[in-house]
Amino acid sequence: MPKLMIVVGSVREGRIGLPIAQWVRGAVERHGGFEIDWADLKEIGLPLMTEPNHPRLRQYTQASTIAWSERVDAADTLIFVQPEYNFSYSPALKNAMDHLSQEWWRKPLGTVSYGGISGGTRGTAALRVPEMALGLVPTTVNVEIPWAFKQIEDGVFTPLDSQATMLERMLNELTSLDAALAPLRAAPRP
Ligand SMILES: Cc1cc2nc3c(=O)[nH]c(=O)nc-3n(C[C@H](O)[C@H](O)[C@H](O)COP(=O)(O)O)c2cc1C
Repeated sequence: MPKLMIVVGSVREGRIGLPIAQWVRGAVERHGGFEIDWADLKEIGLPLMTEPNHPRLRQYTQASTIAWSERVDAADTLIFVQPEYNFSYSPALKNAMDHLSQEWWRKPLGTVSYGGISGGTRGTAALRVPEMALGLVPTTVNVEIPWAFKQIEDGVFTPLDSQATMLERMLNELTSLDAALAPLRAAPRP
């Protein structure tokens, strides 16, 4: 069974990213097609750019980077649960991406974004360029949640039917992309 890493991309005090990611986790469990690795960037607590070498060399010096590298290496596919800040991405998520290089290569990536009126779409769009640089392969179907805080009560996120449907479709797309990309991950990087 492919291993799916759910990355909780917000580390902010009082974040709503956690209940949204917990909903995602429940949906992935019900889907049944993936083994889950739950990667909460707040718990993981990566420092900001402390490695002296380019990540492509994999000459990591920090135990935290080595542990993060091993976890991402072990993932076949990914979901980023990500907020939008100032029309752009979460800096914690970008930092987690920048820590590594090869580990992301040719892995399918689904996005669950949230924020105000835009549903986090500008943050998602802003992250597409670094995703391309790292060889990640984004799904076409993604989940966008405008005014997400309105759907959270007592720390629990309740999806609209349309959001649950989009998530299900995104998981199916991740399954097919994972199968298609597996040979490219195994081959030497050009
Ligand atoms: C510094 C900051 C900037 C924000 N900028 C935007 C924005 O540009 N667009 C948007 O839709 N929401 C914006 N918001 C609202 C966030 O999307 C909202 O607070 C959301 O809850 C953040 O996710 P989190 O609670 O998981 O950190 C911003 C919030 C903060 C704290």
